[in-house]
Amino acid sequence: MNWTLRLATESDIPALEELIPLSVRALQAPHYSPAQMEAALGPVFGIDRQLIADGTYFVVEQQGQLIGCGGWSKRKSLFGSDASHDHDDSQLDPKHDSARIRAFFVHPLWARRGIGSTILVACETAILSASFQSAELVATLAGEPLYASFNYIVVERYEIQLPNGLSLPGVRMTKSLKDVKS
Ligand SMILES: CC(C)(COP(=O)(O)OP(=O)(O)OC[C@H]1O[C@@H](n2cnc3c(N)ncnc32)[C@H](O)[C@@H]1OP(=O)(O)O)[C@@H](O)C(=O)NCCC(=O)NCCS
Repeated sequence: MNWTLRLATESDIPALEELIPLSVRALQAPHYSPAQMEAALGPVFGIDRQLIADGTYFVVEQQGQLIGCGGWSKRKSLFGSDASHDHDDSQLDPKHDSARIRAFFVHPLWARRGIGSTILVACETAILSASFQSAELVATLAGEPLYASFNYIVVERYEIQLPNGLSLPGVRMTKSLKDVKS
């Protein structure tokens, strides 16, 4: 393992804007059509600057290149970028609400090498430190096996509506973090 995990900063945004489409077009291709992926890039798959501002978004770097990203949130939106219409930045209550796991993207050349897992462990640790008891997310079909391998449970399968009238199958998943050591 010759890469490093760190918190994202505003200066990572140009590299993130390159990484996200690369990840989506390669790693989601077995599950979604090109039309679905292109419609989702932007509103659904994109950068949420609020997570960077909150210090809850991580990047993985290798020799100066970003090869993975992902984070968590103490805010209501379950998915989506700055560009999504129904964005809700209101704060969650750790006593009653589940923290969100958000926007994981790994460079296709670095898939299945544990980068997604490393970011997810960092997120769960930070979520516990923020006093949340559980985590919730909406996974893509490409992301579902990662979260399932961390014992996230499927709550609902549904269609995420896209701007061009298409839709994208998504999976709502949840996990109690009470037994996870921070
Ligand atoms: C989902 C994603 C972030 C996973 O990242 P990753 O770094 O490849 O994941 P890891 O290497 O940590 O995988 C951990 C475990 O998850 C499971 N897993 C991950 N990808 C899998 C796949 N394509 N098929 C089956 N199992 C998979 C496996 O159990 C894997 O362990 P193993 O490799 O020892 O068998 C990556 O596939 C991705 O960026 N996809 C495109 C963008 C996307 O859809 N993001 C999800 C948003 S919810």
